Amino acid sequence: MLVSSKEIITKAYQGGYAVGAFNVSNLETLKAVIQAAEVKRAPVILATTETAIAYAGLPYLLNLMKTAAELSSLPMAIHLDHGRSIETVKRCVEVGFTSIMFDGSAMLLTENIKATKEVVDFCHAKNIPVEGEIGELGEDESKMADPIEAKQFVAETSVDYLAPGLGTSHGKGTNEHINLDLLSQIKQAVPVPLVLHGGSGVPNEEVQKAIKLGIAKINVHTDLRLAFINGFKKGLSEFPDSDDHRDMLKLSISEMQKVVEEKIEIFGSAGKI
Ligand code: G3H
Ligand code: ZN
Repeated sequence: MLVSSKEIITKAYQGGYAVGAFNVSNLETLKAVIQAAEVKRAPVILATTETAIAYAGLPYLLNLMKTAAELSSLPMAIHLDHGRSIETVKRCVEVGFTSIMFDGSAMLLTENIKATKEVVDFCHAKNIPVEGEIGELGEDESKMADPIEAKQFVAETSVDYLAPGLGTSHGKGTNEHINLDLLSQIKQAVPVPLVLHGGSGVPNEEVQKAIKLGIAKINVHTDLRLAFINGFKKGLSEFPDSDDHRDMLKLSISEMQKVVEEKIEIFGSAGKI
């Protein structure tokens, strides 16, 4: 069932668990996420980036995700991840996305506020929730989100969720850490659910502490990409004489599904339907 991310994230925030936002770029990644969600009876967010849209084509990707949501009784949202222009945002809202992230984190705070506010005004008029981002991802403390700026950003943009740079990175997949002190200061400064980007490669206990400190949506991409490749390689060695790529892709799907099921358990969203 296709729903607004507001519905599932608000419930998670109030219930003390987090919803996984899993990046989808083709049929295989989508199947892995949906099958895991069905097994675990968990709400999920199907996230897709501008690069995934460029790779697959918006109509293909959208219709894959829409079909999956319509065929399932589980609540799921279709989310634009790291939208970087108002044009992309408008395109996605017009075709039926039910959740938008606008990433103005590379801009100066005032410009980020202005651009994000424009996105929020457009999306809220159509009842679509918006996630904004401040601070840089990565280990450099001086570039992480600032609690005072976080407060100003949320107040002036009216975003529904905030993604603050907290120490994790995109695409590393190992030995990543969350600055939990900073997270706790930001939680006290803003009244909205918080989002963790760079969700791959962070120790499980740290993720669970972060959920207690207000993280209600966790983005995972790299761990899925690694599982896809791992499954594909297994397929190549298990079926060295195969002339059917689906022998490999089936293993890619099952490796990714295992990862998603594990994340759902760690995030506490299993059985929340
Ligand atoms: O927006 C997507 C993510 O933040 C994913 O991060 O590549 O570390 O899993 P990841
Ligand atoms: Zn991200």
